[in-house]
Amino acid sequence: MNAAVLRLSDVHRVHGDGEAAVHALRGVSFTAYAGELVAVMGPSGSGKSTLLTIAGGLDQPTSGSVEVEGTDLVGLGQADRARMRRTSVGYVFQGFNLVPALTAAENVALPRELDGVRSGKARRDALAALEEVGIADLADRFPDDMSGGQQQRVAIARAIVGERRLVLADEPTGALDTETGEEILRLLRARCDAGAAGVLVTHEARHAAWADRVVFLRDRVVVDESGSAPVDDLLEAGHA
Ligand SMILES: Nc1ncnc2c1ncn2[C@@H]1O[C@H](COP(=O)(O)OP(=O)(O)OP(=O)(O)O)[C@@H](O)[C@H]1O
Ligand SMILES: [Mg+2]
Repeated sequence: MNAAVLRLSDVHRVHGDGEAAVHALRGVSFTAYAGELVAVMGPSGSGKSTLLTIAGGLDQPTSGSVEVEGTDLVGLGQADRARMRRTSVGYVFQGFNLVPALTAAENVALPRELDGVRSGKARRDALAALEEVGIADLADRFPDDMSGGQQQRVAIARAIVGERRLVLADEPTGALDTETGEEILRLLRARCDAGAAGVLVTHEARHAAWADRVVFLRDRVVVDESGSAPVDDLLEAGHA
């Protein structure tokens, strides 16, 4: 078995308290291994985005543990957690979330530069990541001068730059047409085949078919893990 890159154990997330408390996650345990792409599916409000933000250290669980490459994020101070995020975790959102005043290459280099990598090296890393997603020729373009699909490729490049081992994507194809969306999933798949662990939140069975495994969230807990069952069989069985 490959190494666990992400391990959530009995994670709870409660927003607010007393009468108004909302249990966004109730005891979720879930592991993603190097080399695999895991799809997370479930109805709206089931906690998918919450799971992803906690996995990426953007939000903290109320209780439970979150390990990324063997480091417990919950035990880290804020500065160390931010550093883990920049070095180990790539995050792709539904919107592209690029900085409009920076070129494609500058957007991709940003997490490297924030991490103290010298700017020449950061730019080389950025160009390599843009090459990997097939748009090296657009390195010096600004986001406003790119199509949605091109912008999302830049966002993927930013999520994989510097060999980050955990790639988290929350409906990354939501704003794209079908063909462009498939292309983005193919890039995620390729990154996982190259050794990263990927977690993909999606509503669509046809997107989950790119994954090795599907995790279903219902009522804020993981109710089913497909394990080694072929994804296609599960989807046909009407789970999704
Ligand atoms: N900051 C917050 N304050 C209060 N409640 C929240 C907050 N963030 C999320 N929630 C609640 O937690 C639950 C899970 O939300 P989450 O966004 O994780 O769901 P989701 O599965 O991603 O839904 P969708 O498919 O619509 O994106 C929901 O009931 C939501 O209203
Ligand atoms: Mg969501």
